[in-house]
Amino acid sequence: MPELNLPFFGHGGDYNPDQWRDRPDILKEDIRLMKLAGCNLMSVGIFAWSALEPEEGRFDFDWLEDVLDRFAENGIYAFLATPSGARPAWMSEKYPEVLRVREDGGRNLHGYRHNHCFTSPVYRKFVRRINTALAERFGHHPAVVGWHVSNEYGGACHCELCQEAFREFLKREYGTLDALNHAWWTGFWSKTYTDWSQLHSPSPVGERYVHGLTLSWKRFVTHQTVDFMRAEVEPLHRIAPHLPVTTNLMTLYEGLDPFRFAEVLDFASFDNYPNWGSADDEAEAAYAALNFDIVRNVLKRPFALMESTPSQVNWQEVCKLKKPGMHLLSSLHAVAHGADTVQYFQWRQSRGGWEKFHGAVVSHAGHEHTRTFRDVAEVGRVLPRLTGVLGASTPARAALIFDWDNRWALGDSQGPRRETHYEDTAFEHYRALKRCGVDIDVIDEGADLSSYALVAAPMLYMVKPGVAEKLESFVQKGGTLVATCRTGCVDRDDLCFLGGFPGPLRRLLGVWIEETDALYDGETNEIRMADGRACACSTLCDLIHAETARVLGEYGRDFYAGMPAVTVNDFGAGHAYYIATRPGVEFLADFYRSRLAEAGVAPLIRDLPAGVQAASRAGADGRYLFVMNFSGKPVQVQLPEGVNLLTGAAAGGTAELEVNGAAVVQIKEA
Ligand code: GAL
Repeated sequence: MPELNLPFFGHGGDYNPDQWRDRPDILKEDIRLMKLAGCNLMSVGIFAWSALEPEEGRFDFDWLEDVLDRFAENGIYAFLATPSGARPAWMSEKYPEVLRVREDGGRNLHGYRHNHCFTSPVYRKFVRRINTALAERFGHHPAVVGWHVSNEYGGACHCELCQEAFREFLKREYGTLDALNHAWWTGFWSKTYTDWSQLHSPSPVGERYVHGLTLSWKRFVTHQTVDFMRAEVEPLHRIAPHLPVTTNLMTLYEGLDPFRFAEVLDFASFDNYPNWGSADDEAEAAYAALNFDIVRNVLKRPFALMESTPSQVNWQEVCKLKKPGMHLLSSLHAVAHGADTVQYFQWRQSRGGWEKFHGAVVSHAGHEHTRTFRDVAEVGRVLPRLTGVLGASTPARAALIFDWDNRWALGDSQGPRRETHYEDTAFEHYRALKRCGVDIDVIDEGADLSSYALVAAPMLYMVKPGVAEKLESFVQKGGTLVATCRTGCVDRDDLCFLGGFPGPLRRLLGVWIEETDALYDGETNEIRMADGRACACSTLCDLIHAETARVLGEYGRDFYAGMPAVTVNDFGAGHAYYIATRPGVEFLADFYRSRLAEAGVAPLIRDLPAGVQAASRAGADGRYLFVMNFSGKPVQVQLPEGVNLLTGAAAGGTAELEVNGAAVVQIKEA
């Protein structure tokens, strides 16, 4: 498998020369401006199908060749895109089967983007043909360093071809209808299927009350999208085996499990759009970091920051400008968490169309004398100073499990609350760990745990085969596990464990969950810790019995006041904690600080101030520590001895970080 091994930091963005073919002056000027901004890597041709194949079978690649040639002459490189994210009108008109069918069975009209069927042999044939032609013509072009396959795969199609593919998927999953009926518990409400042809995707006008069906459909949508990507990639790998492929993921997007893309990616990439300057930049940064820590773990390697905005977006409710310093800070933030490129949507603002007011490196003004251009050029000057970071790994000893099957099952679980807040709860635990100033991996249930000292597994509702054994062995050998309410309820098929929750984790956690109370939004109970601390808790309260576990905290109110709310079970050489409810980030940050200290995981820097984040990378030339100030005010931080690569000055001891300031210290090894 080829990897993304650029000898330099990729810096650039989505570039759409297809929109400017009648303006050779602008295309020429782009090159001058790219060099001026320190940009060296452009993603080209992303939604360019109508320019590349204006009529069925008639390809026009000359304009693209001109662009790539000019890049090569000027030391600029390209991720060449496959154009499958949007199809030309002639195709939809002549072959309507390429268009998506909705859940209600109606077929969409031509329009928007991503409006295509992933199963349609006709669509796959057209994609394969143009990808083959692109690979033949440009697969060995000196400017091309990788493939940007499609764009943000997403959505689903419910056409008959997809229904058939879904049935085949189910046959592979379950083997027999009897097995499917048992797994989906179809005896309930007389749902038993007697022929495969009766199976149909979930729909608001059809079946949507069979959890096994909904879960299987979501798994199928990921499966089919990955299969579509595999078909896209085949001619690219065959014709240009040296070029790595990626597709830009939207990691926390609910509809696709990013971890399943590992098998079709040579390198992972991600589009990052926090709402900087909205209310709380520390929360925005924590959320972005959570996404980075997922995408880096898809392949367990550095990734490409494929998109971010150099200025404002155009689709948030209110699109704030990036405040001074935020562009460099947010770019470094991605690098800190494993990005080996910094790329934008988009290079030049389009003159018309839906995104004409989306931020870009080059605005409608068309020149370099803008704040945004200067901000981008600053990143262009800084990145080469960080070349040693390229390829460096993230030495995380703490991990958080965030699993899509679990997310899907919990999201559909129907009780004890309509909204169980899995994402919010996982984010609170992540954010609390982040406040402790340690590197974090975000992994799925299938991941190897052997490199971690602490694993947080909030709301591990679904425990898949082998996971309980893996967690037991992790703790047995000295690991620290933190589990929470809504744990150990169902198996991989979404069938409840019999014999009491937390099912297969009962021995490890040493608790039995007899009941779970649900709280209204805004309603709280209270955790009273044995050491005197107290905090509010919300959403769900498991009523548990400590079996072999010790009680560390109790509920303070309601009829279950005095029952255990926080426990620990000493298991082998390690400890398994249970937090039976949902406390806030403050409590969790304190809690994790103690657990990390016990587990021997030291913070990256001492006394991390509120609103400041730290992350590190370990490369061949040593360790790099990133300290980033999202607090909105100047702060003092304690830096280790080394060199601050942003300034070239020696680092060590107390340093001041200005608002939106950062330090990147190449640590002097003792
Ligand atoms: C991304 C998409 C880009 C562009 C951008 C705007 O999700 O991949 O094509 O639309 O959003 O922020």
